[in-house]
Amino acid sequence: MPSYAITGTSRGIGLAFIKELGSNPENTVFAMARNVSGATELNALAEKYKNVHIVETDIDDLKSIQKAAETVGKLNGGKLDILINNGALMQHERAILTLDAYEDQELLEKDMMSFYKTNVVGVIHTINAFLPLLRAGETKKCIITSSEMGSLKYILKNDVSFAPGYSMSKAAVNVAVAKFAVKHKEEGIIFLSLTPGFVKTSLAPKEKAEAFYAETVRRIRIKTPDFEGAILPEQSVRDQLAIIHKATIEQTGSLLNRRGDNAGDI
Ligand SMILES: NC(=O)c1ccc[n+]([C@@H]2O[C@H](COP(=O)([O-])OP(=O)(O)OC[C@H]3O[C@@H](n4cnc5c(N)ncnc54)[C@H](OP(=O)(O)O)[C@@H]3O)[C@@H](O)[C@H]2O)c1
Repeated sequence: MPSYAITGTSRGIGLAFIKELGSNPENTVFAMARNVSGATELNALAEKYKNVHIVETDIDDLKSIQKAAETVGKLNGGKLDILINNGALMQHERAILTLDAYEDQELLEKDMMSFYKTNVVGVIHTINAFLPLLRAGETKKCIITSSEMGSLKYILKNDVSFAPGYSMSKAAVNVAVAKFAVKHKEEGIIFLSLTPGFVKTSLAPKEKAEAFYAETVRRIRIKTPDFEGAILPEQSVRDQLAIIHKATIEQTGSLLNRRGDNAGDI
């Protein structure tokens, strides 16, 4: 009866993880979300699937993370099999700005720090808080949702100068994952950075979102003609779970895409 805790489950890929994992009554699923009352779809899933437990967690807030780990520990006998650090700051009003395009340098600094806080420090705090539970678990897997946007190879090949704060935060978190992997290899805890693909989770109105996907795919295909295009969250989650379930200690610290190949090469 595997147990999972996933961050950022109010929407997007995180919500799709809960749909998929919750539909199997064998699983115990802890759905972590920062704004529980506003997470309508998540609440509906927890109503439908009794194996889904919502745990309020803001990964910008250390105390909230520690309280969440305590709650999961209490509800799950002091252990956890798989932690998925999915929650992140990604969609951002100034994502289009390049590093030299900010008129206000203080705003640039504020944006860079907020990506770092949520996507790097928030993930590190979450891993530290859940480590004792993972150590006591059966499968001992800690997954970190990363992005091709954090890969030098991807950035240079596809001319991606926008979204610098997001890209840098994902590159940094990959390094944190490698550090955790080295430290905990001997005790058998598997750390894996996983990229989910280009996934349709935009909050924009449907027409605007589809135009964004089409334009992004067109742009990437200039340099990467065989780029697969945008996929649905359900597809991404199924593929990611297959990789997670197959992961072995030999792979610890790796950065893989949802097909299990080295990420950054698309
Ligand atoms: N979609 C893609 O194409 C794509 C590609 C590569 C990598 N990724 C990665 O995949 C993961 C999920 O992406 P997504 O597309 O599902 O993103 P999304 O739709 O923007 O959802 C982000 C999730 O993270 C949560 N979150 C943000 N800040 C948080 C905080 N401080 N505390 C707790 N939760 C927080 C959000 O909660 P709220 O609802 O409260 O804001 C939301 O549930 C992210 O790590 C992202 O970087 C996505």
